[in-house]
Amino acid sequence: MAGRIQDRVAVVTGGCSGIGLATVQRFVEEGAKVVIGDIDDARGAELVAELGGAEVATYVHVDVTDKEQVDALFQTAKDTYGSVDIAFNNAGISPPEDDSILDTDLDAWRRVQEVNLTSVYLCCKAALPHMLEQGRGSIINTASFVAVMGAATSQISYSASKGGVLSMTRELGVQFARQGVRVNALCPGPVNTPLLQELFAKDEERAARRLVHVPMGRFGEPEEMAAAVLFLASDDSSFMTASTFLVDGGISGAYVTPL
Ligand SMILES: NC(=O)c1ccc[n+]([C@@H]2O[C@H](COP(=O)([O-])OP(=O)(O)OC[C@H]3O[C@@H](n4cnc5c(N)ncnc54)[C@H](O)[C@@H]3O)[C@@H](O)[C@H]2O)c1
Repeated sequence: MAGRIQDRVAVVTGGCSGIGLATVQRFVEEGAKVVIGDIDDARGAELVAELGGAEVATYVHVDVTDKEQVDALFQTAKDTYGSVDIAFNNAGISPPEDDSILDTDLDAWRRVQEVNLTSVYLCCKAALPHMLEQGRGSIINTASFVAVMGAATSQISYSASKGGVLSMTRELGVQFARQGVRVNALCPGPVNTPLLQELFAKDEERAARRLVHVPMGRFGEPEEMAAAVLFLASDDSSFMTASTFLVDGGISGAYVTPL
C-alpha cells in the first residue's frame, strides 16, 4: 500500500536525534526519500543503514548556521532524488548558558539565535526556490510552545528565537500561499528527548515545575511530534498554511491543571 507521502523527497535538519529522528523514521515508513542534515556524522551513517540504505535515505554533514552547507543540503536532495517536496527545519539547541536575561551573556544569546533562528531563515531560503519551481512544497519549521507563552523558568534567547521562527513562518506562509508552497510552524510542548533530558537533568525542580503545567501530566514523545509533522507534510493538511500548530498536551490552553 502507498504511504501518505509516497515518493516525496524530504529534507530533515537535526534528524539524528529526538523529534527529527522520529520524523525521519516515520517519513521513510510512509514512503518518502529523506535527506538528513545534522552534525552527528557517526549517528548519521548508522541511521542511513538502519533505514535501508541510499535508496531511501542520505546523510549530509550540515551545520545549519552555515549558508553554503545549507544550500548544499537542499541541492543534494534535488540531485539525488529529483525534487524538494518537504522541508522539516528542526535542528535546535537549548544550552544551559541560556537562562534568565540577568545571567545570559551576549555570546550565549547569539549562539542560540544562530542555531535556532538564523538556521530556519537559511533553510527556508534554500528550500523555497526548489519548491517554487515545482509549484509545490510543504515547509514545517520547529518553533515551540514558548513562542506563544512566557515562562518564569526563562531561557531568554531560546524563547525569543522560537518567537522569531513562528513569525517568519507565518509571513512565509502568507507570501507563498498562492504559489503552492505551504509553510507551517510545529509548536511542541515539552517532549522527552535528549534536549529536554539535558536541560532538566541538572535541575529536577525545574522539570517538576514544567510538568505541573501540562494538563496531560506527562511529557510528549518524539513519535507524537512525528505524527503531527507527517500531517503537516502530507496532503491531509492541504488547506493549512501559516499556522501555529500546537502539539503540547494542552499546556497552552490551561489556566489551572488537574491534580
Ligand atoms: N524537546 C522539547 O521539549 C522541545 C520542545 C519544543 C521545541 N523543541 C524543538 O524541537 C527541535 C528538536 O529538538 P529535540 O528535542 O529533538 O532535540 P535533540 O537535541 O534531541 O536533537 C537535535 C538535533 O539537532 C542537531 N543539531 C544541533 N545543532 C546543530 C547544528 N548547528 N547543525 C545541524 N544540526 C544540529 C543535533 O546533533 C541533534 O541531532 C528543536 O528545534 C527544539 O528547540 C523541542
